[in-house]
This record gives sequence, C-alpha cells and structure tokens, in this order.
Amino acid sequence: MAKKTLLILAFTSLFIGLAAADWNILDQKWRKARRNSLKNYCESWRINVELNNIREFEVVPQECVDYIKKYMISSQYKADSERAIEEVTLYLSSCCPFESDGKDAWIFDVDDTLISTIPYFKKHGFGGEKVNSTSLEAWMKERKAPALDHTLKLFHEIKDRGVKIFLISSRRETLRSPTVDNLINVGCHGWTSLILRSLDDEYMHVQQYKSQVRKRLVDQGYRIWGIIGDQWSSLKGQPDAKRTFKLPNSIYYLS
Ligand SMILES: *[C@@H]1O[C@H](CO)[C@@H](O)[C@H](O)[C@H]1NC(C)=O
Repeated sequence: MAKKTLLILAFTSLFIGLAAADWNILDQKWRKARRNSLKNYCESWRINVELNNIREFEVVPQECVDYIKKYMISSQYKADSERAIEEVTLYLSSCCPFESDGKDAWIFDVDDTLISTIPYFKKHGFGGEKVNSTSLEAWMKERKAPALDHTLKLFHEIKDRGVKIFLISSRRETLRSPTVDNLINVGCHGWTSLILRSLDDEYMHVQQYKSQVRKRLVDQGYRIWGIIGDQWSSLKGQPDAKRTFKLPNSIYYLS
C-alpha cells in the first residue's frame, strides 16, 4: 500500500515537472517572439523615418528608444553613413563638369552630418524626450561635438577640387562663434560661407529657410551640384541640387 502511494506520488510529481518544463519552454518562446516582433516594429519605424514616410515625429516611440540608441551607436550606423559617403565619391567621379569660374557649389548640413550630437542625446533620453532647445544649445556652446570623420574627409576632397562649400545649418545665428570654433577644432575649415538662422528665418520651417538660402545662391550664379544632410528638410524644396544624399538619423526630425 505504502509502496503504491509512493509510486503514485512519484508519477504525479513527474507530470507536474514535465508540465512546468513545457510551460517554461512556451514562455521562453513567447518572450522571444515578442522580442523579435518589437525588433521588427522598431526597425520598420526606423527605416520608414529614413524613407520619409514617417514625418514630423517629436519623439521616438518609447518602446523603440533602446533600439534606436543601439542603432545610432552601432557599427551599422557607421557603415550606413560611410556607404552614403562612398556613393557621393562615386557620383563625384563623373557627375559634374566643374568650371574654374568659382561658381561650382556643394552644400553640407552641420549637425549629424559634419559633427555629431550623439554625445548630447546619450545624456538626454536618446530621442525619447522632446528636444529641449535650451539645453541642446547650452551643449552646443561647449563646442565639444565630435566630427563625423567620413563626412569631414569628403568635405576636404570636394573643397580640394575647387568647389565652393556652403554650410547651411538650422542652428541660430547666436551660435555662430561656438559653431565656427567647434568645426575648426575638429579639422573642418575652408568653407566659403556658414549660413545660420537669423531671427526672421526662425519663423520659417527649416525646409523653407534652406530653400530660400539655395535660391540666393542660384541667383548669385552658383551651380549646386549636391547636398549632403541628415534631414529631409535639407534636401527637399526648390531650387534643388543636381543630387542629394541622405545620412541616417532617427533621433529627431526637423521640419
Ligand atoms: C530645458 O532645459 C533647461 C536647461 O537645462 C531647463 O532649465 C528646463 O527646465 C528644461 N525645460 C523642459 C521643458 O524640460
């Protein structure tokens, strides 16, 4: 009798054990599926930002902040940026019958094109918080933004071909001297003009302001062969450049 009870007990616990193991496996599978679907969701959010399908976002979706952070500090972000620059180099090898009349022009963005704001966003929510322009500008005044080396190299290559370089930034005019200092500190020098937003320009959308600057350049007889920037608002609108190149940036959107 005691033997039989023991046997039953042993079987029962075996079944409970098996069921628990099954449950664990199911639970693990479910967690993995959920992780994968979140990863898919965030990757498709990111790619649709780059495709300019998702516009005017104020913050990165909360559940994707970690994912976007991982991407923006990853070797993939670096590879994606470097590839964009390689495509510019390829384009330059045959695109443009440059003339020596001083009217060939190329446009660069500043932030997250020539110098990086990632050190700031690392400390300020990585796109998960609405951009606080007071604290962002205070950081810019520290002049510590590091260079994006691949873009900087391209900057010098284009300049050395006798093309005039215009830096058109959505930074405000009040940030002129920290911006110049910061650029020079990282080895960026020899541009023709650094254009920043005046008080009047601040009432405009970035795209409108940047288009207006290009209009001025074209009216002065410049031929704009290309633009490289991380924001769609730097690349769109009339007059346009012969070609534009977009660098990745999924932490903020300037419209
Ligand atoms: C923005 O940053 C400034 C300076 O760090 C701070 O004083 C202010 O409270 C912040 N504003 C918001 C809305 O968080």
